[in-house]
Amino acid sequence: MATIREVAELAGVSPTTVSHVINNTRFVSPALQARVQAAMEQLDYRPNVLARSLRRGETRTLGLILPDSANPFFAEMARAVEGAAFHQHYSVMICNTEDDPDKEAHYVEVLTNKQVDGLVFIAAGDQSAALASRSNHIPPLVLVDRDLGNSQLPTVLADNCQGGYLAARHLIETGYRRLACIAGPSHVTPSAQRITGFLEALHEAGLSCPPERLLRGNFHPSSGYEAAKLLLEASEPPDGIFACNDLMAIGVLRAALESGRSIPDDFGIVGFDNIELASYTSPALTTIAQPMQQMAQEAVNLLIERINDSQPPAQRLVLPTELVVRQSTRRNV
Ligand code: RIB
Repeated sequence: MATIREVAELAGVSPTTVSHVINNTRFVSPALQARVQAAMEQLDYRPNVLARSLRRGETRTLGLILPDSANPFFAEMARAVEGAAFHQHYSVMICNTEDDPDKEAHYVEVLTNKQVDGLVFIAAGDQSAALASRSNHIPPLVLVDRDLGNSQLPTVLADNCQGGYLAARHLIETGYRRLACIAGPSHVTPSAQRITGFLEALHEAGLSCPPERLLRGNFHPSSGYEAAKLLLEASEPPDGIFACNDLMAIGVLRAALESGRSIPDDFGIVGFDNIELASYTSPALTTIAQPMQQMAQEAVNLLIERINDSQPPAQRLVLPTELVVRQSTRRNV
């Protein structure tokens, strides 16, 4: 691999001048710049990024740790985080933990050793709290989507309780009365918050959700499908289901259609996330939209603030969710 000294020799300039051209750290005349560029191309010179990082004490790289890269919500979040970071001249390294705490701890170690400048952290579950609190041993960190109740860490969340409330209120306002809920994994805070909002709306309307109509899934479509089959085969089946994420709602959709239900006339379904796929199911899915782009942008902004100023006050942002009505529920009566 060519060295900076060889480039300087070929261009007839000093190694310092070559360094100023590469790093744009001082004015170099266009003629000299052209000679240096030509020499670098001829020698196929690649600046030693590792050496530069060590010199500067930064890698201009962020780590993004997320629980399931195959879930479109996290894929869309990853795209938004990467776009926000790129706009501020940072690259992003994405690590998928598969909701596994051991894998999560491994990746925090790997990214720390790779000297990333900061971490965008979507926790696998509440056991991640201890990991995220080791602030002296890991890079600056911002929590997204999954709350760990740590007021020392900047945190960006969607208002999950409000979203669960909106889902139930929409089902009630459009005439559904025997409502059921399919929750996500018990160790995931957003799901618990959505159930709280869901039950609050039912209570306000003088309705209730008996335990047999509050089932648990794992955020994958198959769990929504199996839970919905159980609910629909009951002696008093629900006429509306709120699934705590769109993938499970898509499973519910399949079970409802297989059972012969007419959607939305005699059965309504509401999901949560508003992944791109929700617009393309048949019927298209009514859901609660998470502000993914804004969550990602705010998270990257807070993280870069923390990278540049090690002690800013830890902000906690809770961003509003929004009901998106499509064809899996009736229009407001
Ligand atoms: O679809 C995955 C779910 O887990 C989303 O609702 C998101 O909030 C995450 O916590």
